[in-house]
Amino acid sequence: MSERTLPDLRPWGWNQRDLPTPESGKIGADFFFSGRDSSRPYEIEIGSGKGTFLVQEATRCPERDFLGVENAGEFFRHSTDRVSRHGLKNVRMLYANAVEFVTHWVPDRSVAIVHLYFSDPWPKARHHKRRVLQRTSLEQFHRVLQASGELRLVTDHDDLWQWYEELIAASHDLFTRKEFAPPASAGEGEVVGTNFERKYRREGRPFHAATLIKRG
Ligand SMILES: C[S@@+](CC[C@H](N)C(=O)[O-])C[C@H]1O[C@@H](n2cnc3c(N)ncnc32)[C@H](O)[C@@H]1O
Repeated sequence: MSERTLPDLRPWGWNQRDLPTPESGKIGADFFFSGRDSSRPYEIEIGSGKGTFLVQEATRCPERDFLGVENAGEFFRHSTDRVSRHGLKNVRMLYANAVEFVTHWVPDRSVAIVHLYFSDPWPKARHHKRRVLQRTSLEQFHRVLQASGELRLVTDHDDLWQWYEELIAASHDLFTRKEFAPPASAGEGEVVGTNFERKYRREGRPFHAATLIKRG
């Protein structure tokens, strides 16, 4: 679906074009959740696909606020409809490039957890620059995370995992690594319980996962 035909899905879904320009200032969780209690943890999922993780985790954790950022119109529409059907007051969806959004709009030290699950691997070398995780995006995730905030990573893709490992090894100044703990909503034996995990699990693929804790 093209951007032009996206319906007005507020209060659950926002289009990047509805946001104030980055020059007018950063926009935090209170932009999407007006009147929220600022002590509530704010979490961002990058590339939320069909919204499975968001719906499960937000249902399980009503005391947390979640923003799903998705840059494919059909998945944005699907997940926004799903969140709206569940009546989830603690989830908002944003149709945007998540790296651009984090870089230009998200305030410093405002996010408790950034979730990045089964990110597109872009296997060809000439496309590696399109991968979400880069040194520059790691610096931005570090900037927007609160003290001891977390970046959680899961993938099935060996080459992408090698890319993550190299970035993590070169980013000890920003993050300390710890073992990935499945979220509250993960099912029995699941790592995180996204749509892609379930699909790949049926194919018998193994997964890689890590949690990076903000230093400093
Ligand atoms: C392979 S799918 C995984 C979806 C979901 N996380 C899961 O595990 O089921 C990757 C998703 O990330 C989205 N995506 C890729 N790059 C993105 C970006 N820069 N900003 C927002 N979404 C992005 C894609 O459109 C796609 O829906």
